[in-house]
This record gives sequence, C-alpha cells and structure tokens, in this order.
Amino acid sequence: MRRRATTVIDTEKCTGCGLCVQVCPSDTLSLTDGKAAVTGQYSIGCEHCVAVCPEDAIHVGFSDAEATTLETVENRSSWLPFGQGDTAELVRLFRSRRSCRKFSKEPVPEAVLRDLVRIGIMAPTGTNSQLWTFTVVPDRESVMKLGSAVGKFFDKLNAMAEKRVARLVSKVFMKDMLGEYYRDYYESVKRGLDQFRNEGRDRLFHGAPAVILIGSQPGASCPAEDALLASQNICLAAHTMGYGTCLIGFAVEAIRHDPRVKKVLGIPADEKIYSVIALGKSLERYRKQAGRRSVEPRYFRG
Ligand SMILES: Cc1cc2nc3c(=O)[nH]c(=O)nc-3n(C[C@H](O)[C@H](O)[C@H](O)COP(=O)(O)O)c2cc1C
Repeated sequence: MRRRATTVIDTEKCTGCGLCVQVCPSDTLSLTDGKAAVTGQYSIGCEHCVAVCPEDAIHVGFSDAEATTLETVENRSSWLPFGQGDTAELVRLFRSRRSCRKFSKEPVPEAVLRDLVRIGIMAPTGTNSQLWTFTVVPDRESVMKLGSAVGKFFDKLNAMAEKRVARLVSKVFMKDMLGEYYRDYYESVKRGLDQFRNEGRDRLFHGAPAVILIGSQPGASCPAEDALLASQNICLAAHTMGYGTCLIGFAVEAIRHDPRVKKVLGIPADEKIYSVIALGKSLERYRKQAGRRSVEPRYFRG
C-alpha cells in the first residue's frame, strides 16, 4: 500500500552511514551530499529506517507507541537479535497450543483482551497496510447473541440442504457446494443446533466467555493472510497468558454469507471477516503435545 512519505531526517544527527537507504523497501530514501534524504514520494511506513538508524535521526510517524504497549505483560522494547531467544521453548509453545472446546465461564479481563489485540497487530501485513479490524465480544451474553445470529444462518442453510431439488440446482450451478455441505456437515450442524436449543449446549463457541473477530477494511493487499497471522499471534500469546483459544470457521462462514450477522455485531458491510477466535480459561488439560502428519516438501533447484 503506497502512502505519501512522511519521513523526516534530522540532518544534524545523520552521519550518512547509509544503513537506512539499504533497508528501505520502497526507495523512499537515498544518500544525497553525504546525508540520508527523502527523495522518493511514497513510503509503506514500515519504519525499518527508524529501527536501523544508530543516531536516532529518522522520524516516520506512521506508528504510535501505545499501539504496542501492553498492560498485563511486561514490555521488553529492545530488539531481539538473530540467534537469541529460546527456540526450544517457542517450539514447545507451538506444540502445546490446542484448540479449546471446553471453556470456563470466568470472564476474560478487558485489559487481557486489549493486550491480545495489541499482540495481534504485532504480526506483519502485506505492504504494511495494517488495514485490519478487530471486533471484541467481551462477555458471555454477547457471545450468545452472536451465537444465535450464526445459528439462524445455519438453520436456514440446513433447511435448504434438506431439499433434494436445491442440492440438484447447486450441483449444476454452484459446483455442488450444497451437496458437499449436506454430506460433510448437515448432520453434525443439526445436532449442534438441537443441542443448543434443547440443552443450552454451545457447540459453536464451546462456552467461551469472549470472542475476537479479525477482519479487514477494503484496500488491503493480503487481507486474509494479515488476519490469520494476527490470529496465530493471539492464540499463542493467549496460551502463555493462561487462556485457551479456538478458531471458529463456522462463524466465519456464517458472516461471509449472511450480512445479518455483521449487522448484529455493528460491523460495516464492506468489512470482511477472516477469523473468529473463541477465548477463555480452558477446562481442558493435556498430558501430551500436538502431533502432526509428516509432510514431504517439494524442492525446486533450477
Ligand atoms: C481455519 C480454522 C477453522 C476452524 N474452525 C473450527 C470450528 O469452527 N470449530 C472448532 O471446534 N474447531 C475449529 N478449528 C480447530 C481445528 O479443528 C483444530 O485446529 C485442529 O483439529 C487441530 O487441533 P489443534 O488446534 O488442537 O492443534 C478450526 C481451525 C482452523 C485453523
């Protein structure tokens, strides 16, 4: 995403080392008369120049400090050099995060929710657009309201999928989408909806006391990737902060197809939602880490 460059160089401080010019991805800077100078019109606002300058001579002004200042987690603001950090512990975290499907009713403190959003936006975005949106559903009652809007969508979908004619039409005109849904999901969704209505059992959000939805405003170059990278940050950090998470693809689908769900949430119609994260204290305890099937990477050596 191109923006007019707002970069300012303090020529008193600049020694002309050129490090900022080397890291600039958008040719915003060059060395002129032995000093860094803003010679390009545009910038993606990544602030690599600010981060690399040994003299503190550059100001971009695209970010604001409070955006990444945490309330419930210690703020360590120095850059972690390559090769430092505890990889083994990081891998242990990757393998210990599990999708939680049994949440306690205990509310998630608002400061924790704020921190998780801030941890989410520490992820990268395509062309540094940062056009993502975060919608926080902070209490169980509101999660239930969202759940019932999603439930209404699946009620309608199931009613349609039950009809043979509708499945036939879908086979001809919609790549058999309805038929596939009928085969793979209809029964379990029906069971979930019945359990919700008759027993109050929440198979959608698994009883979560909070939900975070991540979406994008129009104009982002890689909106889905941005949202999912933020989601992974949130899920991993939540684990270390004492909270379980579960991505809820069913809710994403409902929001994609039924504008009324967005309306319930107050999300503008032109905003797209790519990730819905259920969140809360987990009542599940595991003894082992997550296993995975092996993959055989393909190598290309030209
Ligand atoms: C994009 C995506 C959508 C998902 N949607 C749901 C969902 O709607 N409901 C649910 O219970 N789990 C959902 N999951 C959780 C997966 O089932 C889970 O990640 C997978 O079984 C691996 O388990 P793990 O997360 O514990 O490692 C989703 C996961 C992803 C990545």
